[in-house]
Amino acid sequence: MSHPYAFAQDLSLLTPRLQLRPMGSDDAAAWFAIMADPQVMRFWNHAPWRELAEAQAALAVDRQAYAEGQLFKLGIYRRDSDELIGMCQCYHIEAESRRGEIGYCLASNAQGQGFMGEALEHFVRYLGQGLNMRRLEAEIDPRNQASARTLERLGFVLEGTLRERWCVGGELSDSGLYGLLLERTV
Ligand SMILES: CC(C)(COP(=O)(O)OP(=O)(O)OC[C@H]1O[C@@H](n2cnc3c(N)ncnc32)[C@H](O)[C@@H]1OP(=O)(O)O)[C@@H](O)C(=O)NCCC(=O)NCCS
Repeated sequence: MSHPYAFAQDLSLLTPRLQLRPMGSDDAAAWFAIMADPQVMRFWNHAPWRELAEAQAALAVDRQAYAEGQLFKLGIYRRDSDELIGMCQCYHIEAESRRGEIGYCLASNAQGQGFMGEALEHFVRYLGQGLNMRRLEAEIDPRNQASARTLERLGFVLEGTLRERWCVGGELSDSGLYGLLLERTV
């Protein structure tokens, strides 16, 4: 399948409190701290990371996928401190259908302040207006109410539930599948 997207290496999306930009290799320690935190990873699809090398390797793989137009992944930085506090991404990109799936996370000390809604409002608008995407999808654990509410505020609609789709660390979980038709909402 072709991936005609060419994501700008120097992309920077500004919101009132945040900057969204591609992560660099110097973000490995901060990115590891987020992905090693069991609270952040509670509803994730794999266990928390245990080694800094996992962050370093993932950043390298992600950078390659970004350069190839397959993964649109941006770090979320506080504008007041330039601290990396999370990320949002669009993956499973289907170019002909102009569709992709989004994922996101915030460091635990950055949660509960509306940061993700602020980041995703700009991220989703860029996917629609900047990259001409038509449909976005998101898969979440239905128990993750903050994530569900964040999606619903953006206009995502729960389109179905897949039962016991994941088994992570021996725990089964359902998937709530959300969809957003950008041309009707953004
Ligand atoms: C889920 C997550 C992205 C939410 O981002 P956030 O900026 O912390 O969101 P907020 O705490 O500001 O809450 C967003 C909304 O959910 C509501 N909410 C938060 N916790 C809730 C709960 N336990 N029950 C019901 N609603 C809740 C908030 O009131 C808010 O609603 P509002 O916009 O109507 O005021 C963030 O907490 C996170 O990254 N968590 C860990 C990783 C993760 O789970 N990622 C998503 C995987 S699909």
